[in-house]
Formats: sequence, structure tokens, C-alpha cells
Amino acid sequence: MLLHKINEVRTQVKEWKKQGLTVGLVPTMGALHNGHLSLIKKAVEKCDRVVVSVFVNPIQFCPGEDLDKYPRTLEADNKMCEDAGVSIVFAPTPTEMYGQNQMRTNDFLTYVIPPFFYVNKLCGKSRVGHFDGVCTVVNKLFNIVNPDYAFFGEKDAQQLIIIQKMVQDLNIDVEIIPCPIVREESGLALSSRNKYLSDDDKIQALALSKILNNIKNCYDKGITDVKALKETAFQFLNEHHELEYLEFCDSETLEEKQTADSKTRVFIACKVGGVRLIDNILL
Ligand code: PAF
Repeated sequence: MLLHKINEVRTQVKEWKKQGLTVGLVPTMGALHNGHLSLIKKAVEKCDRVVVSVFVNPIQFCPGEDLDKYPRTLEADNKMCEDAGVSIVFAPTPTEMYGQNQMRTNDFLTYVIPPFFYVNKLCGKSRVGHFDGVCTVVNKLFNIVNPDYAFFGEKDAQQLIIIQKMVQDLNIDVEIIPCPIVREESGLALSSRNKYLSDDDKIQALALSKILNNIKNCYDKGITDVKALKETAFQFLNEHHELEYLEFCDSETLEEKQTADSKTRVFIACKVGGVRLIDNILL
């Protein structure tokens, strides 16, 4: 069932809750691919009813980012969800979600602001305000859908950690279910933004997973010095790559590491053909 209105979703979910059914939420921005499908399948397996939200959230895009050209494929998304056993696809308009306050400004909109320590690094460093927009919309979706479980991909590991922190800090009554990264056979992590890559870019984009896998192999062989591990990356980079960061952080607290251990997650962001790609691996 494709719904566009907050009230319609609320009414339906209330009905389910009265019947004692469990509800899962998979928040997405649409342009669904097999990565999303793995979250949806997990949700359908675990919950009696599943809501997938499809909303390109304007307040999480920074000026100059791809808000206008972000792929919008609602018909195909809806079909994929129906086939997978999803009960509701919730696709609100920006006006339905934010009224007239659709600009990235907290002059007229109540925001949920995640802690500085968690956002002042990795993607948060270049995408200033991005996680304010993410936490605000995810909080709104939690309030609208009132899910028992919500499913997030480890591909956006910083986002996942920040959402877990928000749920803990604000005592939100939902269990967050992390879902592993889905990759193409080549190793490329699935992302809606892969649609922007040319065939050549796709080959160059393999550098990200190669760098991460090589670091994991070196760590498994006993190298734990982060500086030394970082240096192993350069052999995979060339003029097609614009490395934004390669960082080693604690997988729960995002504390930066000088010495890697089994709780360390390695995060990478790199532009390929002008497309900003991210990936990560747990050591
Ligand atoms: O990961 C995403 O697609 C978005 O950041 C999310 C969680 C749906 C919020 O808009």
C-alpha cells in the first residue's frame, strides 16, 4: 500500500498495534537496490508488518550537494517493496513532512542535534549539518510510524552509530537492527549514488574496497599501528581518486584510534569521477 500522508500511516499502524502486531521500519531515500532489499527482507522476516519510508530528505543535503539530481524512482521502489512483502510504502512530500520550513535552517524548525564529538569527523566534517538533518527526519519517522524495530545499513556506519546514540540519549522506544554491507561481486559497496558512475569510474571505485580489505589482511597478519596501516592505502590510489578521509575509529564511540583492535572500524570516503563514495570495514 502506497501512502503519502502522515495521518494515514498513523491510523494503519495504530490498528496493527491494537492487534498486537510488531512493526518494522526501514527508512530510505528511495532508488532502492539490493542493499536496501537486504534490510527489507530482514525486516519482513522479523516483524509482522513492515513500513518502508521513501523520502529524499531536503534538510540533510548541504548546499551544492545532489538534492535536485538525487535519483527518484518511486514506482520501481514501490514494486520492489510490494514483491518483498512490505505492508506500507510511506512516500511523503517535503511539504507533508516539514510544512513550509523545508530549508536547512533551524530558524523555523525544531532540529535534533547529535553530539559534536560524533559529527565533527568522517562525513560530518565535510557535510556540516548533514547529521542534524538525518537525526531530525529519523526522529520524525519514529514518531510517525512508532516502530518496534528499525533497520539501518552498516554502509553508513557513522549514521548508524549516531542514530543508536540518539535512541539511547532520547530514550526512544525502538530497537535498532544493524544490517551488513551488501557488495557487488567486484567488491563495490552498493549505493544509490553508484548510478552516477561511468563504467570506468566503477573500476576506479574498487580502490575503496581494495584498500579496506588490504588493511584488514595486514591487521590479521599482526600490524596494528594505524599510521603503518594507513600507508598501505596509497598503492591503490591514482589521479582518478580524490581521497577525503581514511580513518580508524572505535566502532561504538567513534573515538579515533592510534592502535587498531578488533573493535576498530576503518572508514573511507573518496571521490571518483566527481562522485563521493564511502565504505568501511570492521577489523
Ligand atoms: O541512509 C539514508 O538513506 C538516509 O540518511 C535516511 C536514514 C533514510 C534518512 O533520510
